[in-house]
Amino acid sequence: MKGKFIVFEGIDGSGKTTQINQLSQWIVNTGIIPENNQLVITREPGGTNLGKSIRSLLLNTSKGKSPDSITELLLYAADRSQHVNEIIRPALNKGNWVISDRFCGSTIAYQGYGRKLDIKLIKDLEMIATQGISPDITFLLDISVEESIERRINIKDDRIEKEGREFLLNVSLGFQALSEDRKWKKISASNSKENIMSEIQSEVKKLIQYE
Ligand code: TMP
Repeated sequence: MKGKFIVFEGIDGSGKTTQINQLSQWIVNTGIIPENNQLVITREPGGTNLGKSIRSLLLNTSKGKSPDSITELLLYAADRSQHVNEIIRPALNKGNWVISDRFCGSTIAYQGYGRKLDIKLIKDLEMIATQGISPDITFLLDISVEESIERRINIKDDRIEKEGREFLLNVSLGFQALSEDRKWKKISASNSKENIMSEIQSEVKKLIQYE
């Protein structure tokens, strides 16, 4: 892979969108991407046209339309497979950089720790969906469950967010465990936006220093 693959993870309300926007601007302004290459900003679920349809199946709250937990897992895997094949791999092969709002870590955290599905099954599906593509770095924007709930008080919950506090606590534990990996960087999302941004920027600089 010639390009760099950067992922943002965190429980709902952790401020991923803001940080992704800031980082994108910084990457474009500083010109750290080789000339003739581009920055691709994408997300899961819903980074492709097919994925947008999968996203609405996954997150809609209509009665009688909720997938059971294995179906839910398979839909996230299907979204990821399409995303990797249509967007991520072609971009990286061209030397483009990719920033994704969520990737495999979310499935371990939400379906593994949240829904308590078998981690081995999740990892097997991950291999099938990603064909070995993995992020150069994953930023975990870390906030407490209380803060997450508070920040989203006036926003309508999607189907997963409706699961409530206990579920989110388990998801958060999952992210904490994942962030022990050397390719993850946990950042306290309660810091000022400026501090968070400068921590992220210094990690991204390291990605190109150690090539
Ligand atoms: P978003 O609100 O960050 O776009 O994410 C949509 C929801 O999907 C969010 O509540 C987290 C959830 N999700 C999973 O449960 N498993 C996954 O693999 C992914 C990518 C997201």
